[in-house]
Amino acid sequence: MTLEKNNTFTLTNNNSGESFELPVFKGSVGPDVIDIRKLYGDTNCFTYDPGFTSTGSCESKITYIDGDEGILLYRGYPIDQLADNSDYLETCYLLLFGDLPNQSQKESFVNDITHHTMLHEQFNTFFHGFRRDAHPMAVMCGVVGALSAFYHDSLDINDPHHRMVSSYRLIAKVPTIAAQAYKYSVGQPFITPRNDLGFAENFLHMMFATPAEDYVVSKTLAKAMDRILILHADHEQNASTSTVRLAGSSGANPFACIAAGIASLWGPAHGGANEAVLKMLNEIGDVSKIPSFIKKAKDKDDPFRLMGFGHRVYKNFDPRAKVMQQSCHEVLDELGIKGEPLLDLAMELERIALEDEYFVNRKLYPNVDFYSGIIFKAIGIPETMFTVLFAVARTVGWISQWNEMIEDPTQKIGRPRQLYLGENKRDYIELSNR
Ligand code: SDX
Repeated sequence: MTLEKNNTFTLTNNNSGESFELPVFKGSVGPDVIDIRKLYGDTNCFTYDPGFTSTGSCESKITYIDGDEGILLYRGYPIDQLADNSDYLETCYLLLFGDLPNQSQKESFVNDITHHTMLHEQFNTFFHGFRRDAHPMAVMCGVVGALSAFYHDSLDINDPHHRMVSSYRLIAKVPTIAAQAYKYSVGQPFITPRNDLGFAENFLHMMFATPAEDYVVSKTLAKAMDRILILHADHEQNASTSTVRLAGSSGANPFACIAAGIASLWGPAHGGANEAVLKMLNEIGDVSKIPSFIKKAKDKDDPFRLMGFGHRVYKNFDPRAKVMQQSCHEVLDELGIKGEPLLDLAMELERIALEDEYFVNRKLYPNVDFYSGIIFKAIGIPETMFTVLFAVARTVGWISQWNEMIEDPTQKIGRPRQLYLGENKRDYIELSNR
């Protein structure tokens, strides 16, 4: 795609007086980008941007975030409209193919995904290699990566059909693997997927049904879960998506790339925050303790941060947190949970933090992880499974971004450089002389 030039920046080397013209390109919306691809060749200098706070790593048409306005668009559609009107598999189609499906496209896509949810029986032996108390995210990393040991018929990343087959398999099978990771951890038999159930309903059924009796999934809880999956489906070039893109840029197969994304998501600064929020709320325990934890969060000498607060991009409310808070109340009402102490605590913590100048000055607002754990806990999901659910939802975002990268004709292996501060060249010293 030819980028639209919008401006030119001139970079001047004040030591030599040399100037360099840097083209500036505009997107359909959002900040322009300064094209520095020729910078090293022209100036013999690298740019320096640890954490990539000011760096655009790629072109993309999938998701747009306006951090100041608290806007999140999937292929142009606002997240709150999708959460209110769409469903997860329709959102998967939108992220993968770029437009909302018509009736027949939707039926065909849902049918294809539904009929790819089962796992090869041989996978059961994978699970039994883990300890029962293994963290489910460790199981997810291992088992999702192992998919590439089974599906040799869809590993040619240069074959569009192979890419789509792998994409469908991942969207369909990751929930089954996730539910089986949970069942394995509690010592219950795996529950096979059911083709007569919707995506979220089927996931909850695989999580909580047992062979001993019929299990009917609450429609309200299935709807809440479906909405949570929509909210977590994609989010531009976040840490785990960038991991998937970087892994994929070497030509690694999609199953291995998604396993790398799962590993990155696990961190408490990223998708692991939802589990960390619940741990933090349980540690705070009582509204009276909130000020001491706010104090800890502000203390530069204390590594403690308020989990579920802050975001690299959002300097306003995370629009997903708003929808999540609304879902929280709906789920608790549906379950007849009055006065959930953790929710009361979370809302009081949010109120106090948003009045504290430290948080106000740094524009630290609740993010998507702040409320999700409370809903998951109310539904009966154990804390160790919270990030697994995030991975289930984000698989479609990861694989959509991976497809976009592979299909980009200018795509090349990602290989950042560095500012080297180590030792200069020095000669080896024999052991006897050290
Ligand atoms: C997700 O990128 C994505 O899109 C991710 C995600 C997605 O959908 O993929 O949205 C999902 O990962 C949401 C974020 C979940 N993580 C947490 O809730 C963990 C707690 N949050 C922080 O760790 C932090 O806010 C980050 C990691 C989310 C963002 O960190 P940044 O962008 O590197 O910001 P920063 O660390 O430079 O913070 C700026 C300032 C610092 O203080 P000063 O040095 O300016 O004095 O704000 C402070 C930070 O110390 N700060 C916090 C804080 N978050 C930032 N202080 C206390 N508590 C916090 N939570």
